[in-house]
Amino acid sequence: VSYDGSCGKRQRLLVVANRLPVSAKRTGENTWSLEMSPGGLVSGLLGVADEFETKWVGWPGVDVYDAAEKNALSKSLAEMKCIPVFLEEVFDQYYNGYCNGVLWPILHHMGLPQEDHNDTNKTLQTQYDAYKKANRMFLDVIIENYEEGDLVWIHDYHLMFLPQYLKEHNNKIKIGWFLHSPFPSSEVFKTLPSRSELLRSVLAADLLGFHTYDFASHFERTCTRILGVEGTHEGIVDHGKATRVAVFPIGIDPNRFIKACALPEVRQQMTELKERFAGKKVILGVDRLDMIKGIPQKFLGFEKFLEENMDWRDKVVLVQIAVPTRNNVPEYRKVKTQVHGLVGRINGRFGSVSSLPIHHLDCSVDFNFLCALYAIADVMLVTSLRDGMNLVSYEFIACQEAKKGVLVLSEFAGAAQSLGAGAILVNPWDVTEVSSAIKEALNMPLEEREKRHRVNFQYVKTHSAKKWGNDFISELHTFSESEMKSKKI
Ligand code: G6P
Repeated sequence: VSYDGSCGKRQRLLVVANRLPVSAKRTGENTWSLEMSPGGLVSGLLGVADEFETKWVGWPGVDVYDAAEKNALSKSLAEMKCIPVFLEEVFDQYYNGYCNGVLWPILHHMGLPQEDHNDTNKTLQTQYDAYKKANRMFLDVIIENYEEGDLVWIHDYHLMFLPQYLKEHNNKIKIGWFLHSPFPSSEVFKTLPSRSELLRSVLAADLLGFHTYDFASHFERTCTRILGVEGTHEGIVDHGKATRVAVFPIGIDPNRFIKACALPEVRQQMTELKERFAGKKVILGVDRLDMIKGIPQKFLGFEKFLEENMDWRDKVVLVQIAVPTRNNVPEYRKVKTQVHGLVGRINGRFGSVSSLPIHHLDCSVDFNFLCALYAIADVMLVTSLRDGMNLVSYEFIACQEAKKGVLVLSEFAGAAQSLGAGAILVNPWDVTEVSSAIKEALNMPLEEREKRHRVNFQYVKTHSAKKWGNDFISELHTFSESEMKSKKI
């Protein structure tokens, strides 16, 4: 990655994602307070901050209808290098409908939802139309802000039409697209009515990135089977147009977590938590309350463990932080009800007046408190049914330098391919296996825990979000289609 050389000006990078990396709150008439949220994407771009002038394009996360309000918010966002895309009129059908009701389950091997033909506003077709419209609204904002030579990095399943729309507008724009979720087997993707249009549109980009080799090869095979295009070692060639497909496993900013664990405030919280759970081992779960996270499967595995291990009943507690998410999508409401039912049943069966086996919280927790929880936990239990990467497992490892706790990790999370060496891998659908893994983790001797932790900690430290962002941008920056075509098999 290098400077563009012209009058010392830094090259610009437009990072386009459904959600801007800020949280916006109304503080009065036409006034807003904004806070940058230091998630994966923000950390990912730390490494290229010196070389590239980054601008963000995305939905600001709040409903704004009034023109004066939009204006005021746009001005405040501009100070944080953010450019808003206001999606109000299409938002419900685009975000709750097509993105999270249709694409999300397909990408996670969950199949298409049953169509409700009584509600003509919510058919697959109307949601698909809203999705395309929303992608066009992103296009309009990008065109307004694009300067010649800008690199454009598009993120995730919300914006699969954007590569094609942008190339139709200007074929010279260099475009990267990264999928943060898994890509399914072709047999699953094939069921999607608009499968070919979506694939062709994504292939309009120059570089496509996935978290794991499995996801990238599912994508390539799906393109070959559905579109009949040619797969090469380097990517895909369609009607003479070459698209590079590569693997870029995301990470976290490990130092942010390591530093937090050393703060006096966090150490105090750790002491309080240890006192609160004195005499008990703590198993921790931290997930968005999403059906892909397998929270019911986690509870069923824990229930089996309590059934079969009477001696552990008063000596272990499962703390589950279930962060509310996408509440307007019916499947999310269903899984919440199911989870609550299981917590009630298990606490009813195995609890007493003074102690409950599951502490379930429907909320997010403050960053410092989260680090304290990660640091005092003996076991982290991740039972995703399918997951792009699962950075919670990375965060846990970053906070475990003192304790050397054990990670029990679903083999269906992308992280299983990077942290598999130090974790106990499980099939979350197999309650017996989850129960045995919990037992193994709780009984694991310190020496073995140290050995496993060392391997994973080293990986988390070196494969950071910063490295991920750097690798992707370097590849996009230096990508040359003709070179790729010449390497074709
Ligand atoms: C997943 C997706 C992201 C998304 C995040 C939170 O990780 O890959 O694109 O931002 O979930 O979901 P939300 O719908 O709240 O943005």
